[in-house]
Amino acid sequence: MKRILFVDDQPELLEGLRRVLRSQRSTWQMEFVQSGAQALDLIDQQPFDVVVSDMRMPIMDGADLLNEVMRRTPDTVRIMLSGQSDQEQILRAVGPVHQYLSKPCNCDLLKDSINRACALRDLFRGPQLLSLVASVPKLPSIPRVYQQLVELLQSPDVSVKSIGDLISQDLAISCRLLQLVNSCFFGWPSLIESPTHAASLIGLDRLRALTLSAGVFTQFEGNLPREISLDDLMQRSLLTSMAAQRLMLLERPNDATSANEAMLAGIVMDVGHLILLQSRPDDYPRLLDSACCDGKQIWEIESQNYEVTHAELGAYLVGLWGLPDRIVEALAYHHTPRSCTDDEFSVLTAVHVADALVQELDSTSHWPFGAVLDQDYLRTLGLEHRIPVWREQTAALLPGNTT
Ligand SMILES: [Fe+2]
Repeated sequence: MKRILFVDDQPELLEGLRRVLRSQRSTWQMEFVQSGAQALDLIDQQPFDVVVSDMRMPIMDGADLLNEVMRRTPDTVRIMLSGQSDQEQILRAVGPVHQYLSKPCNCDLLKDSINRACALRDLFRGPQLLSLVASVPKLPSIPRVYQQLVELLQSPDVSVKSIGDLISQDLAISCRLLQLVNSCFFGWPSLIESPTHAASLIGLDRLRALTLSAGVFTQFEGNLPREISLDDLMQRSLLTSMAAQRLMLLERPNDATSANEAMLAGIVMDVGHLILLQSRPDDYPRLLDSACCDGKQIWEIESQNYEVTHAELGAYLVGLWGLPDRIVEALAYHHTPRSCTDDEFSVLTAVHVADALVQELDSTSHWPFGAVLDQDYLRTLGLEHRIPVWREQTAALLPGNTT
């Protein structure tokens, strides 16, 4: 039985929620309170699996409440209900909130969001995953420069120069970033020499994704077995992220947020491989080799040997970093999308299809561990007929093609 707490200062709104969610009483134990103080009293008595809070409340607003929930019970899923005019508070709550839902909230969407968030958290409570994570000497952290860049991009005073200056402060990340920007699939006619120059050319969303890539992958430099090429994996992730963004925009042209999430998810999609390489340096390279030889998918071999996959490990890590749930979900299921209860083209769909098509089409890649296109999943979504278009769009991104 999941314990769910709803917090809203308007009693009629709580009453409405209580009424529409009555059918959930067999699987959810629900509590409804009108203030942050009452919510924290209940949490101190017994933690909740999920807290759903309104944003605008007197004395303690939703951002302050969810911050405190995060501090007291970090495993609790935190969902915010917010209105159109709450932009300022939303920015303040970027860290402590797993998911935003806009008011008035559709009942089915609310139920689905809570169920999906709980399923993700359950995935991460397995003893195998936790013991494997505990064996990694130092888990990679979310790059500081990336966090500062996200904050800077929200500022009204942001300029190309201020962005370039910020990234230049970290020499290792700057070098990696310039290496990525100057790689062949961007196809710039002349060398890009500085982060400021890059910021002026490639667009801020893409720069943000590349900064995340550079910041994550530099943490593994010098810590991997010799036979594993960090460059191969980084190039592959970059290509997949660009394909995922393109497919998302193709299917949902007005949804820039999802396109950016698909791009970021593509960048970090396979970071779980790097965690496994650090955690199991003696036998994981051998497993990667055996996947190449016997034609099995890598996630199946990982699951047989470790009872956990690189997909789950990567999802766990970016969940710790506070990236949005849709990115966490895309990582967790990028090889097995039918495990998710999606019913339309989503960030997960974009990442799964991009990963599989880049694997299929990029004959120059030395990274053979991409997903295999799940046609049954796409048939269930009613999207099988889109595959030829997606294939064409992905092929256009490959080095040597003009986009
Ligand atoms: Fe993968």
